[in-house]
Amino acid sequence: MAILVKLSSTVPFALTILSFFSIIAIIESKSFSRILPPSSLGLKREKLSHLHFYFHDIVVGKNPTAIRVAKAPTTNASSPFGAVVMIDDPLTINPDINSKLVGRAQGIYALASQTDFSLLMAYNFAFMEGKYNGSNLSVLGRNSVFSPVRELPVVGGSGVFRYARGYAEARTHSFDSKTGNAVVEYNVYVFHY
Ligand SMILES: *[C@@H]1O[C@H](CO)[C@@H](O)[C@H](O)[C@H]1NC(C)=O
Ligand SMILES: *[C@@H]1O[C@H](CO)[C@@H](O)[C@H](O)[C@H]1NC(C)=O
Ligand SMILES: *[C@@H]1O[C@H](CO)[C@@H](O)[C@H](O)[C@H]1NC(C)=O
Repeated sequence: MAILVKLSSTVPFALTILSFFSIIAIIESKSFSRILPPSSLGLKREKLSHLHFYFHDIVVGKNPTAIRVAKAPTTNASSPFGAVVMIDDPLTINPDINSKLVGRAQGIYALASQTDFSLLMAYNFAFMEGKYNGSNLSVLGRNSVFSPVRELPVVGGSGVFRYARGYAEARTHSFDSKTGNAVVEYNVYVFHY
């Protein structure tokens, strides 16, 4: 009995609190989204940039930059399907790995084809050169490594590359079939603000 009385006296109070919060919720929901003029974010003119560099995928060596982190039970040298590799590959201005470092490619590639050497690549270019220092581009695409030219979509970016869209062209510069180490020439074309 005492409990019932107590409950009934708290119900109107609870309702008042509830309606108070729902009024706040209505006010807040008005600002969930709004249309902005692009100039309010300082967006003026879209630019097209071309970046050129060399990507070093070091699988075997003193300091490997590409490390296999997983594989399928059936993955072997003649059937690499299912291997997953984590990379932190240096990007340099010239094919020589000791030339100027302009960034790193950080992410994952996986052997995604049962019939050829095609990779699913998902990685970020983290740049450290000039005005691009601290800005990143995100790449997601298919890389059929023995094709002369591969095209991978650039799906976004940060810093100077906000709103980026474009593509990366990859061409093998050198490949050591014994180790799997590769130097890949990249030409990246991106629109950004
Ligand atoms: C590699 O794996 C494939 C598919 O699982 C199998 O058919 C083949 O015999 C294996 N090769 C070797 C050398 O183990
Ligand atoms: C890039 O930016 C970082 C952090 O601001 C700075 O320490 C570094 O010296 C810069 N590198 C180049 C090459 O400008
Ligand atoms: C780009 O990536 C680096 C890490 O590699 C991060 O420190 C930096 O904040 C990113 N830049 C932007 C503009 O988000």
